[in-house]
Amino acid sequence: MGEITNINEYEAIAKQKLPKMVYDYYASGSEDQWSLSENRNAFSRILFRPRILIDVTNIDMTTTVLGFKITMPIMIAPTGMQKMAHPEGEYATARASSAAGTIMTLSTWATSSVEEVASTGPGIRFFQLYVYKDRNVVAQLVRNAEKAGFKAIVLTVDTPRLGHREADIKNRFVIPPFLTLKNFEGLDLGKTNQGNDPSFASYAAGQVDQSLSWKDVKWLQTISSLPILVKGILTEEDARLAVQHGADGIIVSNHGARQLNYVPATIMALEEVVKGVQGRIPVFMDGGIRRGTDVFKALALGAAGVFIGRPVLFSLAAEGETGVRKVLQMLRDEFELTMALNGCRSLKEITRAHIMTEWDYPRLSRPVSRS
Ligand code: FNR
Ligand code: LAC
Repeated sequence: MGEITNINEYEAIAKQKLPKMVYDYYASGSEDQWSLSENRNAFSRILFRPRILIDVTNIDMTTTVLGFKITMPIMIAPTGMQKMAHPEGEYATARASSAAGTIMTLSTWATSSVEEVASTGPGIRFFQLYVYKDRNVVAQLVRNAEKAGFKAIVLTVDTPRLGHREADIKNRFVIPPFLTLKNFEGLDLGKTNQGNDPSFASYAAGQVDQSLSWKDVKWLQTISSLPILVKGILTEEDARLAVQHGADGIIVSNHGARQLNYVPATIMALEEVVKGVQGRIPVFMDGGIRRGTDVFKALALGAAGVFIGRPVLFSLAAEGETGVRKVLQMLRDEFELTMALNGCRSLKEITRAHIMTEWDYPRLSRPVSRS
């Protein structure tokens, strides 16, 4: 294969390198995976209305997220168990993220602890939280993250149960026994393959609290002073509730299409969520971001920034830290070029008028395939 020229190319390399069980776990969506392909196809139903003859010599991609300055509106989403991809796992991701001057979100289900990630050096990091039935465990996780210098809690709200991922069932997906969920080491919950059913799905079902509700968002605010981003909102109604319950931000996400199938692509849900918050808190999104043009479209629809999931896992599998660095660099370069060719010199110059959707352009209403 010649030079890697876009981040999608890492997936094929990862597929060759990884055990089938691991690749399938990373790549899959739930059930028929309609939302998985839609997360990407939807971007091809949004076109640009570029403005011309604007001096684009200097392009400023910097922005501020919860008061933290970053070099571009592209951040790293939480994905579990990165040491299945590469021995350096979350360490490599943390270093690549810091080098790029952006934010990494560490999963509750990471194979490196908050302290270990902090030990890689300075960097802005958020901690993604899954709420376990045992609230003492949750309080301990949050305390540890706060002590290790993490700057926000990303509360995932779309996973009272894991989605139905059929490849994982066929492969009997388990976390390899030499890996632990490091944030739980002192809590005796780090090994997921104990008991009669060693599957990860069974561990998750046993621990995650299905009763999680809005009052718990309030509870979280009483145990920590960190800002809270609610991850997994797809409707205007829930956006309003998030504002009412004091969330500091929303991440529009369908969990990489791994939870409820037949939810819309996140880029399609974004605008209604933005409408719901009425400018009170920032709205971010993730799901299917693979090109700088995707980032631009998300910002044009009102996102304050985006997160990427699988591209990090696949590049990590292919080339470790170098791979993740390249992914962030390629996305940065593509986004900068997209801004220049649209006549935008700063993020605030990106507007809804720079894009048209199927509403404005009826010939697009039939899905276009997107490679
Ligand atoms: C995820 N995601 C996820 N989300 C979360 O809140 N906690 C987690 O531990 C994980 N773990 C995880 C593992 C794997 C293998 C994938 C693919 C995804 C969801 C993730 O944060 C994000 O929402 C999506 O990955 C974004 O979509 P893309 O960029 O993968 O298309
Ligand atoms: C997943 C969990 C780790 O999507 O969030 O597999």
